[in-house]
Amino acid sequence: MTETLNEIGLAIIGCGTIGRIRAELARDYPGVKWLGLCDVKEDLGRKLKEDARADFFTTNFEELLNRSEVNAVMVITEENKHTEPTLLAVEKGHKLFIEKPLATEARESAQILDAISNAGLDAVVGYTQRFRRRFLTVKERLLQGQIGEVHSVVTRAFMNRMVPIATIAKTNKRQNLTPMVVSGTHSLDMSMWLLEGKKPVSVYAKSVDKALSDWGTKDSTFGIFTFEDGTIFSMNISWGLPVVWPGTVYGLEIGIVGTEGVIDIEDTHRDLILATYKNLPGGYVPEGFEPSVERHVDFLTSYPPGDIYNGQLWGPMREETNSWFARIQGGLDTPHATAAEGHSNLIHTMAMDRAAKLGKEISLPIDPEEFYED
Ligand SMILES: NC(=O)c1ccc[n+]([C@@H]2O[C@H](COP(=O)([O-])OP(=O)(O)OC[C@H]3O[C@@H](n4cnc5c(N)ncnc54)[C@H](O)[C@@H]3O)[C@@H](O)[C@H]2O)c1
Repeated sequence: MTETLNEIGLAIIGCGTIGRIRAELARDYPGVKWLGLCDVKEDLGRKLKEDARADFFTTNFEELLNRSEVNAVMVITEENKHTEPTLLAVEKGHKLFIEKPLATEARESAQILDAISNAGLDAVVGYTQRFRRRFLTVKERLLQGQIGEVHSVVTRAFMNRMVPIATIAKTNKRQNLTPMVVSGTHSLDMSMWLLEGKKPVSVYAKSVDKALSDWGTKDSTFGIFTFEDGTIFSMNISWGLPVVWPGTVYGLEIGIVGTEGVIDIEDTHRDLILATYKNLPGGYVPEGFEPSVERHVDFLTSYPPGDIYNGQLWGPMREETNSWFARIQGGLDTPHATAAEGHSNLIHTMAMDRAAKLGKEISLPIDPEEFYED
């Protein structure tokens, strides 16, 4: 762990859905003595400055990072826009929290990781699901060897198509905004974290794009990773489920089989159901997005960051954000994903897309330059 901070002077770049959640948590954290915000959308940023009682706002991230009060930075811009502010924050030597995916380009991701490693900085990536009690106990049981040697893992993520439609509407640069790179990265990170220490040596995958091709993305990608010790990991995602599917955002199942036991994780949120004659809002609804049909049934708790009560978010994103503050200020050893893990998650998700495109198994590790060969 690198040096800790006496007081946190926090810069948040990106004041959208997730930036708002984290800024409001920062306002309530006693160790954050100064809060500065940046967004290219001035109205949105100024509104958050008021709501989060921030000290400073600008539309230019360079101006924010040049402020003498800043010693920690959260990069919460949309998927394609992490690289520039991250590299500048690294240059300034600040503590860093970068939203997933680390980048959407393999070269940029490698450049970010190199810069962070060369500077010897503490940088983490927003894999929020690691902060849920259920996954922490699974991780602990695996570390204690309670199911023997793990040899087979099967992961299935199902997502409501509201998420890709809303995500992709934000940009025309959609080539890498695939189900694996944008969202499957969460369940891949969880699975790889649970398999920590094992080395993937190859991946094979297939994709289909029947429903979402009009939006410029694929519906589903299913793949199989093989590890050096023979372990197999089947990683499957579909983010093309209909808008009326009661899971508003994410549902997950993970089965982990070991030589002496098994852990079966049911995380589809079907245990908490609301049904009503009233029309329900969508789960992930950035500015201007309206579900195209009425929705009357919800699996509650399927919004991964957490749930709102009394205008406050309760759930894993609170734990993740506050424990990052405790990490950089008090030196707490937290389960955050490192920049190196963020980079390998991007490379593994892109390798699945590449295997599907080429129709052949791909050897791992893969050089980021290989993604530019055709
Ligand atoms: N950890 C999680 O569970 C989780 C959940 C949802 C989204 N995310 C990730 O969080 C990130 C942000 O997602 P979101 O839903 O808040 O997106 P969003 O579109 O609501 O917000 C992004 C904001 O960044 C701003 N922005 C873009 N470029 C900028 C720049 N150069 N300088 C300043 N501001 C800039 C945009 O104007 C926008 O307001 C994405 O990477 C997304 O994948 C993580």
